[in-house]
Amino acid sequence: MRKAKRIAAIPPYVFAQMDKRKKELIAKGVDVIALGIGDPDLPTPEWVVEDMGRAIQKPPYYRYPDYEGAAFYRKAMADWYRHRFDVELDPANEVVALVGSKEGLAHLIWAFVDPGDTVLIPDPAYPVYRTHTLLTGGDPYMMPLLPENGFLPDFDAIPEDTRRRAKILFLNYPNNPTAAVADLDFFRRAVDFAKRCDLLICHDNAYAEMTYDGFRAPSILEVDGAKDVAIETYSFSKPFNMTGWRIAAAVGNAEAVAALGIIKTNTDSGQYTAIQEAAASAFDHDPEAFFAKMNRVYKGRRDVFVDGMNALGWEMEKPRGTFYVWVPVPQGQTSGGFAQVCLEKAGVVVTPGAAYGPNGEGFVRVALTVDEKRLREAVDRLAKAGVRYR
Ligand SMILES: Cc1ncc(COP(=O)(O)O)c(C=O)c1O
Repeated sequence: MRKAKRIAAIPPYVFAQMDKRKKELIAKGVDVIALGIGDPDLPTPEWVVEDMGRAIQKPPYYRYPDYEGAAFYRKAMADWYRHRFDVELDPANEVVALVGSKEGLAHLIWAFVDPGDTVLIPDPAYPVYRTHTLLTGGDPYMMPLLPENGFLPDFDAIPEDTRRRAKILFLNYPNNPTAAVADLDFFRRAVDFAKRCDLLICHDNAYAEMTYDGFRAPSILEVDGAKDVAIETYSFSKPFNMTGWRIAAAVGNAEAVAALGIIKTNTDSGQYTAIQEAAASAFDHDPEAFFAKMNRVYKGRRDVFVDGMNALGWEMEKPRGTFYVWVPVPQGQTSGGFAQVCLEKAGVVVTPGAAYGPNGEGFVRVALTVDEKRLREAVDRLAKAGVRYR
């Protein structure tokens, strides 16, 4: 078999590797506490499941879906953006349904990036931005996200010739993996930068609804004039516990939405209309009350974990967004080495930060996807294994 050269450029997908190792340990009888993958353990809202039961009975949905998403789904997204962010969207040309936001983020790169084009990518980041840039023959420029800058990129540090070659700027706040949040003022600066450099911003807003301590995550489209240069992805996966359903949307700049649509019509033929109907119904039953309930659960878990680790010598602040904690590794250890200690000595799976980019080195990511009791046990096991920050 002679595979394409571009495949060799792609590092193994970190979560697939971790899943393999976790399964090996479970098969050996180890009671593994899995804090590696950002996959909610809580159930999809019951009204969404009930709606799906009805939608699945509708024969028109057994045929090919509309490529760009059903009109009712695009309208539901536009209605939600008006209610949630005070952003007006034209459902006809500023909204496209996605088979999960991962799909849309990947295909957007194919719509914009020619070989040799630069893509501005946060470091560390969700791996898809970089991987698909490499697959298209593009050139990833990694923007360091550093603790001293609140894990926000420094646009002024991007060299002039890189700006000229750049086609897309990826942003993602609340952020995976650092759990940092950004306010509207940051997005204003980003929009201003994009206008000066004539590039498209893609804001990945997968964690918009997962915030704590009074923080409310904005949409980049709340910035005046953002629609001239920005597209945003919004996903049902994390806020509604629907990772398996594969449903999201890209909204914003009409030209970018149309370009993404061209790649999608030639690739995936859209998402099953019954899933679009069930997802749209998620907005019908006081979604904000549902998010508040979920966020109370995650906040409780966050507090148990961060307080527990701080008792072992860490000095972490509590993150105000996502369901991750970005944990600095003890001095003298690498993120991979520390993740291995957690797994082999305590049966606790965490993700090495280096898997998200060179500036992820020095951290591991913990996903708060088990209940408080299990998190307490995870911290106890780490303590018993002699793990301390200093
Ligand atoms: C930052 C970020 N973007 C996108 C995704 C993918 O979400 P979806 O399930 O909508 O494809 C994830 C999933 O972990 C993520 O962390």
